[in-house]
Order: sequence, then structure tokens, then C-alpha cells
Amino acid sequence: MNQILKPKDREQLLRALADFAPAGFGRAVADLADADEYELMPQEAACIKAGACQKRRDDFCMGRAAAHKALASINADNGPIPKSNAGSPLWPEGFIGSISHKQNAAVALAGPKGNILALGLDLEYRADPIGEAVARRICLAEELAWVRADMALFHQCTRMLFSAKESVYKAFSDAFGAKPGFLDIDLAWDAAKGTFFGRILRPLPACQQAQSFCLFVPCALTDSFILTACCL
Ligand SMILES: CC(C)(COP(=O)(O)OP(=O)(O)OC[C@H]1O[C@@H](n2cnc3c(N)ncnc32)[C@H](O)[C@@H]1OP(=O)(O)O)[C@@H](O)C(=O)NCCC(=O)NCCS
Repeated sequence: MNQILKPKDREQLLRALADFAPAGFGRAVADLADADEYELMPQEAACIKAGACQKRRDDFCMGRAAAHKALASINADNGPIPKSNAGSPLWPEGFIGSISHKQNAAVALAGPKGNILALGLDLEYRADPIGEAVARRICLAEELAWVRADMALFHQCTRMLFSAKESVYKAFSDAFGAKPGFLDIDLAWDAAKGTFFGRILRPLPACQQAQSFCLFVPCALTDSFILTACCL
């Protein structure tokens, strides 16, 4: 795999992040070359399990490199970003954000808490195939009809929906410690706006008011990646 992200991929991801970012949020893209240059802080290095494989180390470093760049871009406190027991990044006091990595790229959004409870971000690689069995596991009936409507777009639509649900999961996990399953999240695609919208179908153990949230999950397609974001 090429360590260096093509300039066009980087540009397209940055543009998508700029569209998704709430006001005042920093955004950044990192690749494996950035990961090589970034030296983990001790609290971050301690998050990597002994015996973790090289890919896990690379992903973690790439994500932290992107997260620190995002904080630096808004002149925020750029202290260590360790992780919670649930696996989510622990941002410096007063900040929230999200990290995602796939293939040779990592993306991050970070900014002041303000009125935003939490943010979930998910990056997927467009060329990764996704099978019918996975589609049945992640899609509700109407979603399944949508991903199957044009079989030429089956992989793309299924992966877009998968990414959107992962973004929702991250946002609810961060905001409430709640863990919505794929079939707890009901999304429909608004092609004109390039956004999934929908709701959580039932109360979640850690978030009884989950159904009261209107979900908007913008989705961008770059030449190589699918990127979604969910803000609560
Ligand atoms: C946690 C999870 C969402 C990560 O997604 P992924 O596609 O494997 O990987 P990504 O690169 O997009 O995201 C990984 C990053 O998300 C962040 N993350 C991990 N757990 C998280 C959580 N519970 N909440 C928020 N962010 C989290 C971390 O920054 C992590 O990177 P790091 O470990 O290098 O810091 C996924 O692995 C998972 O466990 N999903 C739950 C499965 C499921 O039932 N999903 C239902 C979704 S509807």
C-alpha cells in the first residue's frame, strides 16, 4: 500500500471535512508518512496493547497525527489524547471530536464542546467490497430495498449506510456510553442534500431518550473514500 496519500485524495477529504465541520472545529487528514513523523506522547503510547500488530500501531499513530493537526489548526490545547475504556479518544478538557482511519488515511475533527454533545466520524474505502450477508446484518427492510435498488451501486450504497451507522454509533457512544446496534438505527438517503436522515428506533439502555434525536448524517464520496459524520 502506498504510504503517501495522493494529493487529490487529501484535498477531497479536507473539503468534505470542511463541509461537515461544525463552526470553530479544526479538521485534518493524515497518512502513513505523517504517522511516521508523529511521536506519540507517553499517555498515548500506553494505549497501544503490548503485542499489537504493526497495522494497529500505524492506524493509531495516523489517527493521533490527524487529531493533533486538527487541534493545532484551531490553536487548541494540544495535550495528550489517550482513550477511554470504550475506545474513544479522550480529548483535552473542553473539547470533543472524532477520529477514523482506513487504508493509508486518517481523518479527524475536533473543536470546543459548546452546544455539541458529541461527534462521530467514519471513513471507509470505496474499493472494499461488502457482501449481501453484511447488508442483511446492517440494513432494515427499507434500507435493504434502497441498497438493492440499483445493483450496480449495491457495494457503494451499502458501505455508505454502514459508514453512516458507524458514525451514529460513535456519537452515541461518546455522548451517553450508549451502543446502538445497526438495526436500532433507521436511516434514509436524501440524494439532493447528500445526507442520511433518520432516528433511533428504541430507547437504549444508556440513553432512554435516544428516540428523540433527529439524525442527520452527511455523506461525501471522494474518488477513493466514503466519509460520514454525525453530530449530536
Ligand atoms: C468502534 C468502532 C465504531 C470503530 O470503527 P472502525 O470502522 O473499526 O474504525 P475507525 O477507524 O472508523 O474508528 C476507529 C477510531 O474510532 C474511535 N473510537 C473507538 N471506539 C469508539 C467509541 N466507542 N466511540 C467513539 N469513538 C470510538 C477511536 O479513535 C478509534 O481509533 P483509535 O483506536 O486509533 O483511537 C467499531 O470498531 C465498532 O466497534 N463498532 C461497533 C460494532 C457495532 O455493533 N456497530 C453498530 C454500529 S450501528
